[in-house]
Amino acid sequence: MPLRRSFRRRLHLSFCGASVSRLPPVSLNVYPYECDAYGHLNEAAYLQLFERARWEILARGPGMQLFRAQGVWPAVRRATVDYHLPVFPGDQLEVDLQLEKLGRTSMQFRQRAVRKSDGMLVAEAHLVFVTIDASGNPTPVPDGVADLFATRVSTHSGEVIRYNVGAVTLGADVRGDGPAVLLIHGFPLDRTIWKHQVATLAGWRRIAPDLRGMGSSDVPEAGYSMAAYADDLARLLDQLRIQRAVVAGLSLGGYIAFEMMRRHRERVAGLILCDTKADADSESGRAGRDEMIALAKSAGAEAVADRMVPKLLGRSTHQAQPQLVAEVRELIAKTPVPGIVGALEAMRDRADSTPLLASIRVPTLVVTGQEDEMTPAAGARAMAQAIPSAASTVIPGAGHIPCLEASTATSRVFAEFLEAVRES
Ligand code: MLT
Repeated sequence: MPLRRSFRRRLHLSFCGASVSRLPPVSLNVYPYECDAYGHLNEAAYLQLFERARWEILARGPGMQLFRAQGVWPAVRRATVDYHLPVFPGDQLEVDLQLEKLGRTSMQFRQRAVRKSDGMLVAEAHLVFVTIDASGNPTPVPDGVADLFATRVSTHSGEVIRYNVGAVTLGADVRGDGPAVLLIHGFPLDRTIWKHQVATLAGWRRIAPDLRGMGSSDVPEAGYSMAAYADDLARLLDQLRIQRAVVAGLSLGGYIAFEMMRRHRERVAGLILCDTKADADSESGRAGRDEMIALAKSAGAEAVADRMVPKLLGRSTHQAQPQLVAEVRELIAKTPVPGIVGALEAMRDRADSTPLLASIRVPTLVVTGQEDEMTPAAGARAMAQAIPSAASTVIPGAGHIPCLEASTATSRVFAEFLEAVRES
């Protein structure tokens, strides 16, 4: 269902820079001997100035030991300079160094020179380096090097990178460039439920983490709560140097998105609430959690899968996509029991998010599978009506996991919402 025009007009959002360098800029003076016969910096001099800035920036950090310790050397492959304004002797410039793209063996940097007297951007350089070994052959950028400039992200489909977020290490698939969208999976699943959206939402930095206790993330015995999940994800954004992201959460992921609104509101640039609800568990719901905890502890994740799969997927999926039904069953069956138990306790004890709804001002899209029995579309519509900045849409032929069951339709709805957010 296309987003209404009025909704587009109501969207308002600003994204902060996608990545922030760990290395502070340096100030450099422009000397007369650097300038040419016309009295200003020419292109060759600019390249030298940018190189001088790089060495100074490194010297204030780990210095060349960074490369020596890893047995690699950064070999420049391309350097271009864009001139904006002339610079003369005596001018003071502030020059920074930002990693734009981290490849397997390459690093692409941007350097900007800003005149300190008036804050004008006078020139910028784009540089590509390849890390080479002692024989001169390209070699993967070592983590120790990459970590200094930015945080490593996935470079091929499905690649999982592990991020230390303090108490635990989370596995995540992080792909693409652009403003960030954080995709939070449901229970008891993992990041792969978003594989179609991670593959298709071009122009966005797609971040699909495994929550603690699930997928490839650490599985602590205790310490599960909505606050812990939300704090893990805020620290993951820190690790990725992302200040704000559109947060998309499916079911449990939606509960965590609400918790992020409570604890880290300034990090949330927009919301996609999929097959989720704002209210807390009822008394019978809480009893159901305890019963499922007992089942997981006594009979394991397979028994939880048997119990959940019939309800998780829509009627149409059960009829027409047996392979997907088997995949989801397998995904649940391999979830570690402490992760299942921890998530059930966290969901059982979660706060009521209904009072939060009226205060949500970021662009919000509520998405529900038409055949979702766990969070039916009528409830989702009511939730959307309680959020001043929300639109809602229903995905036909899908149950509780539309991102997998009707992946193309879901990706289209996400893409349209995200583009409206970007344009606003
Ligand atoms: C989920 O899909 O994350 C769960 O079904 C949510 C819940 O049980 O409340």
